[in-house]
Amino acid sequence: MSRTHLGSSARPADPLPIVVGVSGASGAVYGLRLIEQLLKADREVHVVVTNPARTVIEMETGLALPTQPLGIERNLNRYLARKATTRGHLRVFGEQQWTAPMASGSSRISAMAICPCSMGILSAVATGASHTLLERAADVMIKERRRLVLVPRETPLSTIHLSHMLHLAQSGVVILPASPGFYHTPVTVERLIDFIVARTLDHLAIDQDLTPGWGQPA
Ligand SMILES: Cc1cc2nc3c(=O)[nH]c(=O)nc-3n(C[C@H](O)[C@H](O)[C@H](O)COP(=O)(O)O)c2cc1C
Repeated sequence: MSRTHLGSSARPADPLPIVVGVSGASGAVYGLRLIEQLLKADREVHVVVTNPARTVIEMETGLALPTQPLGIERNLNRYLARKATTRGHLRVFGEQQWTAPMASGSSRISAMAICPCSMGILSAVATGASHTLLERAADVMIKERRRLVLVPRETPLSTIHLSHMLHLAQSGVVILPASPGFYHTPVTVERLIDFIVARTLDHLAIDQDLTPGWGQPA
């Protein structure tokens, strides 16, 4: 279990970065909590926040993010209460920043999640559109046979959404809907959020102690 805290200056045990895309679906808190937990696990986290996501994040959490990646990085670091000396672990890239490592399969990335994942991004990934850095990064993960987790948030689902999800699952992508279970008897919204973030971390192969697995001690 990882016991590294925010602000630790220790180097990551596994130096390979993890990519997190935050898209404009509802559930911005899932993405922010996921980034926080990956940083807590002392991982280098490469983040892309889509333009619609900036709107949704502000509406749902009050966190205002500017348009430029460096400004987003600064505000995210502040929001996550991280120390300036550790900011090297969080790197934010713009939607058209094709120089980012995640844009190429030759750059080794250990895993990627899009959390929350809009139906727009889901459809783009399912069809290999690659018009933005986030779409391209997901496409790279699939072609390189690397771990890709999508956390879609929509209800109800149309046959279009479902057929995209089937296609992606058949390509090895983990479809992890943002639909928390209730068998751990959550009494706060945070516990519901952590249920989804914990399952996402499990699928990214990151140790977590947010929510114990069924039958495991709390
Ligand atoms: C408050 C708000 C909530 C939204 N919730 C969802 C949602 O849960 N799922 C979804 O697919 N789109 C949702 N949308 C619509 C997306 O933001 C929109 O389709 C956008 O184009 C997605 O862009 P992106 O995939 O590049 O982030 C929401 C929009 C707003 C403003």
